Amino acid sequence: AGIFTYDPGFTSTASCESKITYVDGDAGHLLYRGYPVEDLVARGDYLETCYLLLYGDLPTARQKADFDYRVTHHTMVHEQMVRFFQGFRRDSHPMAVMVGSVGALSAFYHDSTDIADPHQRMIASIRMIAKMPTIAAMAYKYTTGQPFVYPKNELDYAANFLRMCFSVPFEEYKVNPVLARAMDRILILHADNEQGASSSTVRLAGSSGANPFACIAAGVACLWGPAHGGANEAALKMLAEIGKPERIPAFIARAKDPDDPFRLLGFGHRVYKSYDPRARVMHGICREVLAEVGVADPLFEVAEELERAAMADEYFVEKKLFPNLDFYSGLTLRAMGFPPAMFTAVFSLARTAGWIAQWMEMISDPSQKIGRPRQLYTGATRRDYVPVAKRG
Ligand code: CMC
Repeated sequence: AGIFTYDPGFTSTASCESKITYVDGDAGHLLYRGYPVEDLVARGDYLETCYLLLYGDLPTARQKADFDYRVTHHTMVHEQMVRFFQGFRRDSHPMAVMVGSVGALSAFYHDSTDIADPHQRMIASIRMIAKMPTIAAMAYKYTTGQPFVYPKNELDYAANFLRMCFSVPFEEYKVNPVLARAMDRILILHADNEQGASSSTVRLAGSSGANPFACIAAGVACLWGPAHGGANEAALKMLAEIGKPERIPAFIARAKDPDDPFRLLGFGHRVYKSYDPRARVMHGICREVLAEVGVADPLFEVAEELERAAMADEYFVEKKLFPNLDFYSGLTLRAMGFPPAMFTAVFSLARTAGWIAQWMEMISDPSQKIGRPRQLYTGATRRDYVPVAKRG
């Protein structure tokens, strides 16, 4: 018995206090530890952003060098993980491989599953940030049937990831610095977004005292859905279905139809009720990447036209549905050479910094309890058991 607030989807329930990320959904602002994401994208780098999210402040030059060193020296995964990967079917979705392999890390790093020890917590965090690009690249290589590429630690984080994905045997692979910088900025944009479904999942999983690798695997699983991180893959699929600008009005009409479950993917957000600042930056990165690779992608034109048409439509204006982070990211990643199935895997490697920061904050907050929502029971009242022979 008890009186509970019924809040499906937690639209009005704060589950925690947090000092990490601030979203002002009306103004369209996103701050990591007080710094606008646009500034971090323009002037910082992803590992610095990871440090900021984890420790609360930007690193000094020495702290940065030390952090970068520690991350780059944890990039390998245990060689036995190769056999774990080989258990998957070749046509597995990379996100299926990610969910499994990130969870499997808990079987390899027993020391850093001692969450009572702050030192071990930090080692686990660094391990996870360091290994996610390796795992995501392995998931990609495995599903394409190509050999795994080991990390090359003199490269920076984003360049190393691109090399692990796109380098092939017997060919000299040179990382394009423009694409590496674009990837780094994409990672910053995705690094955290306060209590999104996957971060809340990580916190909920962690609230029971589960080890951090298992908690991040839970986050990866939650991110996969098309209402969350899976929207980048789904949005590109939708743009391909639209195909040309003339077909846009029909898709807008479907999105507005209350009897049609179709939604414009890459549009709308629970918190951003004005233009998602990440979408604006991503749009710019997309244009730059397309110019760098020399591709005139007709779907980019479709996307821009779709945005214009939606922004001029009363339905989208009234409901405050703007393009979100996932709208232009698929086009950008595709231009960089990633197949659609990898888009959400890239998102999950970037969001690991935020998940870890949220998990660390929760574990060190003495007011946190196990997450245990209540329910309003609407099922049958007490009934008498009837043996199977007597059930009619
Ligand atoms: N297209 C058409 N109508 C929409 C859309 C859309 N993309 N999004 C919301 N609506 C409508 C919805 O039908 C509802 O209308 P009504 O009030 O008449 O029933 C109203 O807007 C509010 O929608 P909601 O589902 O109650 O809003 P929510 O806060 O629960 O959902 C959302 C947020 C992101 C799940 C939703 O906007 C959506 O499904 N968008 C498409 C998927 C997507 O792009 N997801 C990525 C989110 S951003 C990055 C990330 O988190 O990974």
